[in-house]
Amino acid sequence: MEGKCWRFWNETLKAPKYVLAPMVSMSELVWRDLARQYGADLCYTPMFHAKLFGESKVYREKNFPTDETDRPLVVQFSGNDPAVLLRAARHVVGRCEAIDINLGCPQKIAKRGRYGSFLQDEWELIEEIVRHLVENIETPVSCKIRIFDEAEKTVAYAKMLEKAGCSFICVHGRTRGQIGENRGEANWAVIGEIKKAVSIPVIANGGIGSLEDARRCFEETGVDAVMAGYSHLLDPQMFSEKKETKKQVVARYRSLCTTRLEQFKKRKYFVPSLANSLKGHLMKMFRKDEVLREKLAEVYSVEGFLELMEEIGTAED
Ligand SMILES: Cc1cc2nc3c(=O)[nH]c(=O)nc-3n(C[C@H](O)[C@H](O)[C@H](O)COP(=O)(O)O)c2cc1C
Repeated sequence: MEGKCWRFWNETLKAPKYVLAPMVSMSELVWRDLARQYGADLCYTPMFHAKLFGESKVYREKNFPTDETDRPLVVQFSGNDPAVLLRAARHVVGRCEAIDINLGCPQKIAKRGRYGSFLQDEWELIEEIVRHLVENIETPVSCKIRIFDEAEKTVAYAKMLEKAGCSFICVHGRTRGQIGENRGEANWAVIGEIKKAVSIPVIANGGIGSLEDARRCFEETGVDAVMAGYSHLLDPQMFSEKKETKKQVVARYRSLCTTRLEQFKKRKYFVPSLANSLKGHLMKMFRKDEVLREKLAEVYSVEGFLELMEEIGTAED
């Protein structure tokens, strides 16, 4: 298993170093395109609800436009039923390199749905989920976890996932309680302990806001790759050595949008969902520009966003 994991990591995934995190509404197709152009070696989709994904063609079409250029890719699901997760997973076989189980979501909605970090005390169930997927599909399986208060328990948790058949794991170095005001620092030391204890590749997540942070994280933890979420939304170039101006970033983002629009415009759901994510992304990228944010607040259509992006991309300095 160990050798197989590393062959997969090195040969199929090409030993990725920089990873775009799964982010609901945010790590969608065009943002993944942009992330790859700026140095992300591996991208995750947003979390998809396994039950809806397995049952509804509309849900799949709305949430998962993709093609062969959208690779390497990890598709992430939430759920707590091995059969339901398998049904969802079967729909993405051949359209991604790995299937990830979300064991990290700390939101109330995850508590209600009994998924994400609210499964982290149900090790038998998690083991069953991973085994069921591994035994029934060829696509490698991974988990994205949060840490426990106790380092020892976190290490045991990671080892359980390895034994269950995960091909790699991603560790967000915060506990389930570290959200909102209590977000605090990510604990890289525990991630380092996990890396020492398991034989599968480990991705570190949490508190990586720049290439400099990434270098420090590699040094301090010995992990195989680092993942960024929120910081990537503020600066999609964060993994790139060469930096472009913000105007160039917007022009590039716009051009990727128009390419994907041309490709997917006949799909009923692509245009409205692109408009939605464009608003979210531009609001974050220009969070300090009150004038532009006011303009963005008034725009609802993809055409409107593209026009505004053209203005930004060609404006005089
Ligand atoms: C807008 C947003 C959406 C997120 N959605 C998901 C998700 O769908 N699945 C998941 O595992 N984590 C999700 N996360 C958590 C991130 O993947 C990541 O673990 C977290 O932000 C910590 O990394 P960071 O410090 O680089 O932001 C989300 C985070 C943000 C900011």
